[in-house]
Amino acid sequence: MVANDTARVLVASNRGPVSYTVHPDGSLTAKRGGGGLVSGLSAIGPDADAIWVCAAMSEGDAGAVRRSAADGRGRLDPADSGGQRVRMLDIDPEVFEAAYNGIANSTLWFVHHLLFQTPFEPVFDEAFRKQWEAYEAYNAAFADALAEEAAQGAAVLVQDYHLSLVPAMLRARRPDLRIGHFTHTPWAPPDYYRLLPDDIAAGVLTGILGSDRAAFLTQRWADAFTDCCAKVLGAAVLRDEGALTVTHAGHTTRIGVHGLGADADFLRERSHRADVDERLSTLRGQVGEGRKVIVRVDRTELSKNIVRGLLAYRQLLTDHPEWRERVVHVAFAYPSRGDLAVYREYTAEVQRVADKVNEEFRTPGWDPVLLHLKDDFARSLAAYRLADVALVNPIRDGMNLVAKEIPVVTDNGVSLVLSREAGAYEEMGEDSFVVNPYDIRATAKALHEALLLSDGERAERTKRLAAAATALPPQQWFLDQLAALG
Ligand code: F6P
Repeated sequence: MVANDTARVLVASNRGPVSYTVHPDGSLTAKRGGGGLVSGLSAIGPDADAIWVCAAMSEGDAGAVRRSAADGRGRLDPADSGGQRVRMLDIDPEVFEAAYNGIANSTLWFVHHLLFQTPFEPVFDEAFRKQWEAYEAYNAAFADALAEEAAQGAAVLVQDYHLSLVPAMLRARRPDLRIGHFTHTPWAPPDYYRLLPDDIAAGVLTGILGSDRAAFLTQRWADAFTDCCAKVLGAAVLRDEGALTVTHAGHTTRIGVHGLGADADFLRERSHRADVDERLSTLRGQVGEGRKVIVRVDRTELSKNIVRGLLAYRQLLTDHPEWRERVVHVAFAYPSRGDLAVYREYTAEVQRVADKVNEEFRTPGWDPVLLHLKDDFARSLAAYRLADVALVNPIRDGMNLVAKEIPVVTDNGVSLVLSREAGAYEEMGEDSFVVNPYDIRATAKALHEALLLSDGERAERTKRLAAAATALPPQQWFLDQLAALG
């Protein structure tokens, strides 16, 4: 059934632009989220007749959906979502848990970030098959809601690995729609991707190929996707005067690339508010007068390679004792996916290694590592301003916005140590100290060289890094995708 007040532009993603917390008295508070998609969608303005379809991810979210039940479809009160039309899907908790934690985060995320290794080996047993069925049901719930909300010929932008089956499901329900899919993660090369059971490897690809246009953050991930289409499905991949298409089962999907940049206007304004200034002076006090600062800010996520980063810092202090007491590593590793045991274990490992480095090198008045595990956006911005060196060393990353944000926010210029496996490397590699993320000694050497960079050279590089980082602001990124859908 198609709704009366349908939308011309639809965005679908697992995590929405707002989340809710339930208080002991049963009341709810809404918190607006950030990120590229939120800023991107703001570019089309309130008159664009848009709706965002997302999942209820917590008790608070489910409460908000019930509160707006009068609407009959789970559309939230626009007062809570900053005027944005949002429809939250209150999916059965067991289905959501299996789809989100089981398939999306423990299987597809692991494949695309090449994380299947001891002790995180995939087990494709009966329980896994049940999770896959849940993933299909969860994708179908999105396809149903989008089919109901979309006006004739509307543009639908489906986001990420959580919703890879949605494009084909939606096309079957509403062939009139223009459907785009955007992948925010890397894409695995075919030999690795084929670790997935054959039907599931094929199912994910044909799901995305249900779109008119499938887009990626870099050419490298787009090429890996088309390689998988050719090797797994036997699809026809055609490159014609720069245009890339995949044809499978009689349908042709255009392949696009849209690098996502930092939101410079927002960051520059936000990073000079009083709460950031306050945290900056606290951080300065903790670091100590005259010391250099190596900053990293990540979700505590296996692909971010935080433990090897700490070991590289330890190596730096070992190989170059002249840095002892003259440098501090400010490492913010914020909570992520705490429902999964591997993430909880990884967080404990990060803490353990940071403690060890501190025990080994600490002297009165100098803590070599300042680790914070509690999320604080204002404190992150303060660290961005303070950084002499930024350490961004993921094993593999779709883009990595921290690498792009720090050169924009820094007060005194920054040297960037950057993994060649981050999408950001393609745009920023030339002015960075590039590392193989597995190579701890090479990362230590890069940190040393980054610390030694002259002020003049650092200022020049920062200027170029900031220009590359802001070349495609989120608003443009979003508009380009819409325009490319036709
Ligand atoms: O990179 C893919 C992505 O969806 C990002 O957009 C985001 O940073 C991350 O994963 C969020 O994961 P989650 O919603 O599980 O916290």
